[in-house]
Amino acid sequence: MFSKSSLRKVLFAASVACLLPASVMAQKGPQWLNKAVFYQIYPSSYMDTDGNGIGDLPGIISRLDYIKSVGVNAIWLNPIFESGWFDGGYDVIDFYKVDPRFGTNTDLVRLVDEAHKRGIKVCLDLVAGHTSDKCAWFKESSEADPNQRYSDYYIWTNEISQADKNEILKRHQQPNPQSSTIGRYVEADAPRAKYYEKNFFECQPALNYGFATPDPAHPWEQTVNAPGPRATRQELKNIMSFWMDKGVDGFRVDMAASLVKNDPDKKETIKLWNEMRSWMNNNYPQCILISEWSNPAQAIPAGFNIDFFIQFGIKGYPSLFFAKNTPWGERNSHPYCYFDRSGKGELKEFVDNFSDAYSRTKDLGYIALPSANHDFQRPNIGTRNSIDQLKVAMTFFLSMPGVPFIYYGDEIGMKYEVGLPSKEGSNERAGARTPMQWDNNATAGFSTCTPDKLYFPVDTENGKLTVATQEKDKNSLLNYVRSLIRLRQSSEALGNEGDWTLVSDVNKPYPMVYKRSKGNETYIVALNPSEKKVEADIANQGFQSAKIVSATGKGRYNVNKNGKDKVQLNAFSAIIVRVN
Ligand code: NOJ
Repeated sequence: MFSKSSLRKVLFAASVACLLPASVMAQKGPQWLNKAVFYQIYPSSYMDTDGNGIGDLPGIISRLDYIKSVGVNAIWLNPIFESGWFDGGYDVIDFYKVDPRFGTNTDLVRLVDEAHKRGIKVCLDLVAGHTSDKCAWFKESSEADPNQRYSDYYIWTNEISQADKNEILKRHQQPNPQSSTIGRYVEADAPRAKYYEKNFFECQPALNYGFATPDPAHPWEQTVNAPGPRATRQELKNIMSFWMDKGVDGFRVDMAASLVKNDPDKKETIKLWNEMRSWMNNNYPQCILISEWSNPAQAIPAGFNIDFFIQFGIKGYPSLFFAKNTPWGERNSHPYCYFDRSGKGELKEFVDNFSDAYSRTKDLGYIALPSANHDFQRPNIGTRNSIDQLKVAMTFFLSMPGVPFIYYGDEIGMKYEVGLPSKEGSNERAGARTPMQWDNNATAGFSTCTPDKLYFPVDTENGKLTVATQEKDKNSLLNYVRSLIRLRQSSEALGNEGDWTLVSDVNKPYPMVYKRSKGNETYIVALNPSEKKVEADIANQGFQSAKIVSATGKGRYNVNKNGKDKVQLNAFSAIIVRVN
């Protein structure tokens, strides 16, 4: 029946299949991910319908036609659950209830239904690692009786080391100790015990998923399979089912790597997510998991469909976008960022780390390079502030492989607002959370309230950075973004699954030139974010012809049949070229 060699192949494939957990095999996820383009919405700032200056779910529903018109087909909403609002919604009081500021659970179901009618998927933010200290589970767990239902949902101890005590002191010397991440424990003096373990800010007690290697000298460190951690894991599944049963299409998981404690190589955390993945494959195969892990080579085999390259974790993103004199500049170890008008940035750190993560994960899942998010600056910041520059940045985000994520407002070039006062634990993140700018009235069409009541102030640059203005201008950033998404969706090669290779010299970073290909379709993308005209020789790729299919600014790609191809770009220019 089988020849010897084909039998060997079958046996080999079968043995590989046995070695891989079911989760890893089925992981590339539902078909829709292949064409997914996400839009991230910070709900407090998108659209206010009740005039209190804070966005709400009916507001988002009222803007779904606009969202669809941008060309995206999936939304990630920052947390919408009932919250104490000491960390922008990431301090959840009740995971089963929409926060009254946004509306009701029924509003959410309506949002999901209306989005689905338009072919748009909806993912929620799952804050898996912690709750608010105002959550009823935490209150019960802090009581003297340690045998109640929620007692072991958290991590309590009376003993911490001197080093941990010093960290508490250090935190309390900060200007805003409540919104400082320093240290591991919070002094609570609760009937249950003196300290609890936090996950981020003081108001965010860590949920107890156990310890990878519990220290016998620390009796409060439970194993991952102890009843408490098992109950917590089950609760997480209950929360997910509760919303997926209502039609939600998946979750972005907050601090996904943080769940199991004392797990330096993440072995137990990965196992936990493998279990979640198998459970989802069996019960909700059309739903997805997106991680805030920022290490795709760990997160994707753990069971996530998408992981981010962002402001922490595997290095690369800061060297592209964070200039020295901006709030996130210190995360970039280079004197300039790549997308800087000076043209003095470098590419190697990003390309080395991205290529490595990409080659290790591309058959299993997707990497996302978001235009920004609620935790760090937008592309429009500092001297990267002209529409021409922003068009080059958006060309990058919308022509890389993986799943694109556009942060609301980046499609119209909204600014990161420098120096806003902290609100609801935002600290310097306030500037990335300002209201969406719809039109040119005093609240930019975000709310009927007076401007002083707005969640954060608006700044339209005299009406330039609004949807209304940019709708009317065929050369606007908004219309350029739409054209990029259309092009991406028209081509497998330029899409989420197309292969990616840098074809320019990584040590001569301007221009950055890469190839996208799938089957017999190939494109070249060339980017020049600098204010200087640049050119590069590209080692002969064997192309016979080149046709520019998208351009901002001015550029050319010349195929040279006898030697090197040549690419030339004016200042602030980007081209996408179909090559044969
Ligand atoms: C990451 C979230 O993106 C951030 O906004 C939040 O403050 C922390 N996790 C804590 O949940």
